[in-house]
Parts: sequence; C-alpha cells; structure tokens
Amino acid sequence: MTGRLAGKVAAVIGAGSIGAGASNGSAVAAIFAREGARVLCADISPAAAGRTVAEIAAAGGTASPFTADAAQTADMAAAIDVCVAQYGRIDILHYNVGIEAFGELIDVTDDSWDRVFDINLKGAMAASRAAVPHMMKQGGGSIINVSSIASLRWSQMQFLSYNVSKAALNRMTRVVARQYAPHNVRCNVILPGLIDSPHAGALFKTDEERAEAMKARDARCPMGRQGTPEDIANAALFLASDESRYITGLEMVVDGGITL
Ligand SMILES: NC(=O)c1ccc[n+]([C@@H]2O[C@H](COP(=O)([O-])OP(=O)(O)OC[C@H]3O[C@@H](n4cnc5c(N)ncnc54)[C@H](O)[C@@H]3O)[C@@H](O)[C@H]2O)c1
Repeated sequence: MTGRLAGKVAAVIGAGSIGAGASNGSAVAAIFAREGARVLCADISPAAAGRTVAEIAAAGGTASPFTADAAQTADMAAAIDVCVAQYGRIDILHYNVGIEAFGELIDVTDDSWDRVFDINLKGAMAASRAAVPHMMKQGGGSIINVSSIASLRWSQMQFLSYNVSKAALNRMTRVVARQYAPHNVRCNVILPGLIDSPHAGALFKTDEERAEAMKARDARCPMGRQGTPEDIANAALFLASDESRYITGLEMVVDGGITL
C-alpha cells in the first residue's frame, strides 16, 4: 500500500454515519484507508460501521468493523485491544463521537448532562488511556479528538453540556499532548465549524425546517457554504500523517472563517 499513511494502523471511534451520505467519521475512515492505513471502524451501530467498512473495501482499502459504545469505558479499551490484536499496532486514534442535548442552564437535567459528558469526554479519555501505552511502546503515535467551535464562543443552539464538554476536550487534548510529547505521542483536536452532514440535518424536525436551516447555515459562513465531512477528513489526514510530526496540542479550527 502506498499513500500518506502507508504502513499505519488507525482506530476511528464513531466511524459510521447516522444518515445517508458521509459523516465526519466515515469520511475520516475512508480517507485514512485511501492513504494506506488499515482502519478499525468502531461504532455503536454495527450497520453504520459495516457500511463504512464495505465502502473502504470496495475502494480497495483494508478495514474491519467493531461494535462499541463510547459511553462505556470498557468498550473503548476493547476497541483498542482489538485493533492491536488484528493489525499488530495502533498509530492513529481518531475520536469522532460527539452528541448534543438541548438544554440551557435552567433546564439542563443531570441525566442529559452526564450522558453528554460520558460520550464527548469520558469516552475520549478512555480511548486515549488505552491507546497511549501501545503508542509509547511503538515510539510514537497521533491522537486526534473532534471538538467544535461551540467550545470557543457563543452558539445560537442551547447546548450547554455540549459546549462545555467540548471545551474540556480541548483542554484534555493539550494536557495529554504536553504529557506525552517526550514519547513522541502527539495529541491534537479539530474544531469543526458548520458542517453539512446528516448529523447537522438531524437537529431539525421536518424536511422544510432542515432545508431552511441549511440555507441559513450556508449564508452564515464567510465562504458562502458550510464545510463538508471531507474538509474535516483532510484536516485529520494531515494530523494523522508524519507531515505534522512536530505539531502537538493544536486546536485546529476548520470553519471557513466563521469564528474570525
Ligand atoms: N456537523 C457539524 O456541523 C459539526 C460541527 C461541529 C462539531 N461536530 C462534531 O463532529 C462529530 C460528529 O460528526 P459526524 O458527522 O461523524 O456525526 P454522526 O452523528 O454521523 O456520528 C458518526 C457515528 O458515530 C456513531 N455514534 C454515535 N454515538 C456513539 C456512541 N455512543 N458510541 C460509538 N459510536 C457512536 C454513530 O452511530 C455514527 O455512525 C461530533 O464530535 C460533533 O460534535 C459536528
């Protein structure tokens, strides 16, 4: 296999898509495989993981599915174990899973707060915790977390727990980056802006509401369009590859300039 990730092994957590068409997670898994990595595609939905694996196989790449719930730390450890058992190593961990729950301060419930933090933050910690010892033994590795620009600034959506959990994910990324830099284990975080994906579409109830919202989202972006899952995947590819070997602790904003 040739490519920018030739010889590398990646685990992508949340590698499927919740709808028709590519998600941030499935686009990352596909581009990693296209560039020569062997990819463990972990997802809570076996069908979603299976679709990504089938697309990769059809394009001539190597991937395998694994069913795991990011809210369960044992599942995250198992995903890394299976990746190493199947492919002999782990060079790249891409933690894509993230959920939103409606609720500003007055109406957020304890349960929804905990659920969002379990998936957006604890799962990322558990996956990194399991991967880092292997990466240190191998002489290095690249961890990529997926946050959001909502971690940086006011968002129109009332997602208090989401915004705060993603801000904590940014901070965890930087602490892990500094801690393991002497072992050549890098840790970076991508902050997507408005991305046109099934995930974003699912926030709206009817087709009309969705179409209206997508037009408004395009208009809010300085480039006149939302980003695509491929825009996120291209950023992840750079952070996964040795081209970024001296970059760690970076909060990489991929938003077409909307936060400027
Ligand atoms: N789309 C946007 O506008 C936008 C903006 C900012 C940040 N993001 C971030 O992008 C990421 C998700 O993007 P996506 O397009 O891949 O979304 P997606 O909702 O399609 O999710 C990808 C996969 O994750 C899986 N998943 C969901 N919960 C899981 C769990 N508990 N355990 C394991 N797998 C689980 C889903 O089954 C799906 O196949 C999130 O971290 C989100 O916060 C998206």
